[in-house]
Amino acid sequence: MSEKIKIFEVGARDGLQNEKKTLDQPTRIELIKKLTDAGLRRIEIGAFVSPKWIPQMEGSLEVTKEVIKMQAEGALPKDAQFSCLVPNVRGMEDALKSGIHEVAIFGACSETFSKKNINCSVAESFIRFRQVMEMAKYHKIRVRGYLSTAFGCPYEGRVAESRVTRLVRAMIKMGVYEVSVGDTIGVATPKQVESMIKKIKRVAPLSKVAMHFHDTRGTSLANVYASLRMGIKTFDSSVGGLGGCPYAKGASGNLATEDLVYLIKGMGYGSPASIEKMIAIKKWMEEKLGRELPSKVGKAGPWLVEDNG
Ligand code: HMG
Ligand code: MG
Repeated sequence: MSEKIKIFEVGARDGLQNEKKTLDQPTRIELIKKLTDAGLRRIEIGAFVSPKWIPQMEGSLEVTKEVIKMQAEGALPKDAQFSCLVPNVRGMEDALKSGIHEVAIFGACSETFSKKNINCSVAESFIRFRQVMEMAKYHKIRVRGYLSTAFGCPYEGRVAESRVTRLVRAMIKMGVYEVSVGDTIGVATPKQVESMIKKIKRVAPLSKVAMHFHDTRGTSLANVYASLRMGIKTFDSSVGGLGGCPYAKGASGNLATEDLVYLIKGMGYGSPASIEKMIAIKKWMEEKLGRELPSKVGKAGPWLVEDNG
């Protein structure tokens, strides 16, 4: 058995939140089902945020309720873990109503991005996160943490590594099971990634760290390679390379899941996700969204990479 790399699929949230066309709830649920059929087991399915800020995520409560119901009835795999973004107590109340077992708090490493994205400073956001963590602990809900703009901010430019490591440590201390370190606007290069992971390793076990790359400048796969060499075993990605962030101008899609799977399988690691099925989902999404998605393997096909799942 080859060592497995964990994939955290964000297409149904990070992916859809930045699309011009808002998908209806049945289509979002069908996407989630298809992602589980493709072998993915950690899937972000929505965001309990304000629909005035992110209209594409409106209805996340209904989508989540239905997904949890389908799982209870056996229509979705029992071992699939679903998650939703939660920015504050109001969002956590929706999470509790939905029946979901995992949520994600999301903060930023730069002040201006924090203000633009969640309308508060980084310090204020951590006060909100602490409230969310308390509710989650009481209701036995797992919490993941995101830190955006770790490699660069669209408003402030470079971000100091010391700032990122301080926030990683603070989130882990707060009780998140994993911190996803985000290159929100896709500016990172492998040298920067190596240096950052080296510093993060001093404050957190890498088993609790995931990398979240956007492919804005075409460096996401190179950054995955650098991360793997540094000991990272979990990556966020979105089918077809859907995605972006409405509050990060120039942010394009996430690293595409099928491109990620192609790379890790080609390097001899295992992954439960099927490249063929991911490509089929990408094509289906293109029909639904009426636009071509950027994944490379999605266009070219899988070629000879062995299925060493
Ligand atoms: P706010 O306007 O400051 O909130 O928004 P407020 O507390 O002043 O309340 C104003 C109104 O919003 C009230 O309603 C609240 O009830 C309502 P009213 O009384 O006016 O009718 N409200 C909410 N409604 C629904 N859900 C909630 C909620 N909270 C308050 N949770 C807020 C603050 C955080 C809600 C807002 O700024 C927001 O929704 N932001 C969206 C942020 C977002 O989803 N961004 C994209 C995801 S982050 C990302 O993509 C990066 C990531 O992928 C990693 C990476 O790439 O780096 C994760
Ligand atoms: Mg993102």
